[in-house]
Amino acid sequence: MGIALSVNLNKIALIRNSREGNYPDLIEHARACVNHGANGITVHPRPDQRHVRPGDVLQLAELLKPLPEIEFNVEGNPFAAQRGDYPGLTSLAEATLPDQCTLVPDTDHQLTSDHGFDLTQTADKLLPVIEKLKSLKIRVSLFMDPIPEQIELAKQLGADRIELYTGPYAAAWNSSDPKTLENLYQQHRQAALLASELGLGVNAGHDLNLDNLPRFSTIPGLKEVSIGHALIVDAITLGLAEAVKAYKAILEATTRIQKTR
Ligand code: PXP
Repeated sequence: MGIALSVNLNKIALIRNSREGNYPDLIEHARACVNHGANGITVHPRPDQRHVRPGDVLQLAELLKPLPEIEFNVEGNPFAAQRGDYPGLTSLAEATLPDQCTLVPDTDHQLTSDHGFDLTQTADKLLPVIEKLKSLKIRVSLFMDPIPEQIELAKQLGADRIELYTGPYAAAWNSSDPKTLENLYQQHRQAALLASELGLGVNAGHDLNLDNLPRFSTIPGLKEVSIGHALIVDAITLGLAEAVKAYKAILEATTRIQKTR
């Protein structure tokens, strides 16, 4: 299997939530992504419910249950407080049994995730969460910066995968500083090699887009990219089907090149 594309649907929910009613319909869009080649669906419920809500997670789980080849990835901060009918990430995972939970150290009012875990500070708190999720047979991925010591700690904690936080790489892509970009690429490359050596799977995400993905996707051992913002923006001009296909085409091209080496 090549590199999986998991489409993050938060932005569809954000547009829906800006009005009363159910338009656009999140479930229809999830179905369309899958029909057009996405390998997975990601959602990131937050306590403020500004985009995906707990009810959406339940409905998506129902949609994807009969499709074992499509991965359902629920991400978020397991320590974010319960609020209103938001039950907390672990309870939501228990109720919906996604294939994967990606644990992210974002705070309640953060616009979006912007750093990986510092496991020197959070290991003790994370350990029971990881054990709980694994006891439910949910694969656990930790959102991480490409720092070797941190990745070793992720392994010691029993994570199955890491998701490399690609925000700085994507920002460097847009800057006119090729040296920083190359350094960041190499950091991610080394981090991915180390993770694979340790037996951790490697996912990646944040601010990946049609321009910066071709290079990033050559990171060795990459199993999955999770992409939301840029893909949904591309869907405005290309249409959702063509947007999903364009991202898939990049990942397939990388896999083809790697196989011929
Ligand atoms: N991975 C994580 C952990 C995220 O929080 C997000 C944003 O919700 C993404 C990946 C996807 O980032 P983007 O929307 O920039 O593609």
